[in-house]
Amino acid sequence: MNNEKSGSEAILTVEGKTYSLPVVTGTENDKAIDIGTLLQKTGYTTLDTGYKNTASCTSDITFLNGSEGILSYRGYGIEELAEKCVFIEVAYLLVHGHLPNPAEYENFRQLLKRFALIHEDMIHFFDHFPPNAPPMAILSVMVNSLSSYYPEMSLDPLKTLDTAAARLISKIRTIAAFTYKKSMGHPLVYPRSDLNYCGNFLNMMFDKPVYPYTVRPEAVAALNKLLILHADHEQNCSTSTVRLVGSAGVNLYSSISAGINALWGPLHGGANEAVVTMLETIHQDNDNFKKYIEKAKDKSDPFRLSGFGHRVYKTFDPRGKIIKEACDDLLVALNVSDPLLDIARRLEEIALNDEYFIERNLFPNVDFYSGIIYRALGIPTNMFTVMFALGRLPGWIAQWKEQQEDPDSKIGRPRQVYIGEPSRPFVPMSKR
Ligand code: ACO
Repeated sequence: MNNEKSGSEAILTVEGKTYSLPVVTGTENDKAIDIGTLLQKTGYTTLDTGYKNTASCTSDITFLNGSEGILSYRGYGIEELAEKCVFIEVAYLLVHGHLPNPAEYENFRQLLKRFALIHEDMIHFFDHFPPNAPPMAILSVMVNSLSSYYPEMSLDPLKTLDTAAARLISKIRTIAAFTYKKSMGHPLVYPRSDLNYCGNFLNMMFDKPVYPYTVRPEAVAALNKLLILHADHEQNCSTSTVRLVGSAGVNLYSSISAGINALWGPLHGGANEAVVTMLETIHQDNDNFKKYIEKAKDKSDPFRLSGFGHRVYKTFDPRGKIIKEACDDLLVALNVSDPLLDIARRLEEIALNDEYFIERNLFPNVDFYSGIIYRALGIPTNMFTVMFALGRLPGWIAQWKEQQEDPDSKIGRPRQVYIGEPSRPFVPMSKR
């Protein structure tokens, strides 16, 4: 089997027969061979483990160029958005497709304020998790349960979507903060209408009856930046999960709950937690960088350098660069000194000069420095992936919406190549 591209079509030869397949070109000149008719025409499917070569959809939300390290949302470069916007402005951009004008922004802000509380009955749910329940498990359950409080989403998803999107973006931060408070055994702190989105979240996390919390603008700015940088990343594992579950007609809340579970994995969003654990381990092991670099390179050892490498980026992750700078600024502004930052810098330098990492194009990704910012903000390690989910939520919503609105959307249902036993006669129990 071989194939070659010719102009706007690809010519595929299968066992002597030639087929023409259309080539799809994206706005940034990315090209894909449309194999939609392949099975019907040839009787063949394609095999692409881990979807390394497969575009699962066309999308106008996020553009990513992995070889040049470019990332943009709706055509706006991530660097400019991170510098000039607040998170909810970017959330609006992702969900609605354009930057909000002042009236749209104000309306969105008011909606987020209005929806900030969760139903009081839901608060009892928190009491029934075991004391050390992983926050991602709680978050996923709570978000899924919103579908039972707002069933209209299942009945008429597109008509109620804008309200559901604002409701979810607002409530998820209340749920996240309550998860933390419950895990600490502290009284819940309710949302306040006088605080902005990020300030409100920090206050719900850290305010205590005996120690009132002061929301610092530097902390709010750093959190806004982090959430913006995490807000979408095209068809990654969790987003593909949201779309796949949504393709079966599942409501927004439950589709996103599935995405939260996918994000939890240490190869995906869970890496930010794994990075800090790794840096702490290296620190406790007398800063023995060499040992951990060698472990990461040893194929018989499952250890990997967390926060390094990416399926799509084969150069610096543009988000990583911004986060590294933000991290330096925040630690200075808050006058925090964190030995893990020095370890991260040293580890990065060693890895970037090591043949193994150079040959495989392994660079720091978004997770490498984000944990150090979360630590400076006072967020505990087991809440890091929850923070990622807070940031990724608008992207998941936008992707879910795009799929629901696409008249050509179909239920996601990949094929397989069966490699099990060929057909064989049944053996009765007495003869086995
Ligand atoms: N440490 C050591 N070796 C690595 C690492 C790493 N972090 N990442 C990749 N490699 C090696 C692989 O062993 C493989 O080597 P080989 O060619 O000799 O077999 C080669 O680099 C290619 O790696 P793959 O696993 O094939 O790349 P893939 O695209 O499937 O995986 C992934 C990408 C999962 C991100 C991987 O780089 C990884 O596990 N990184 C660590 C976890 C991490 O930081 N995840 C967060 C990613 S960003 C996000 O999801 C938000």
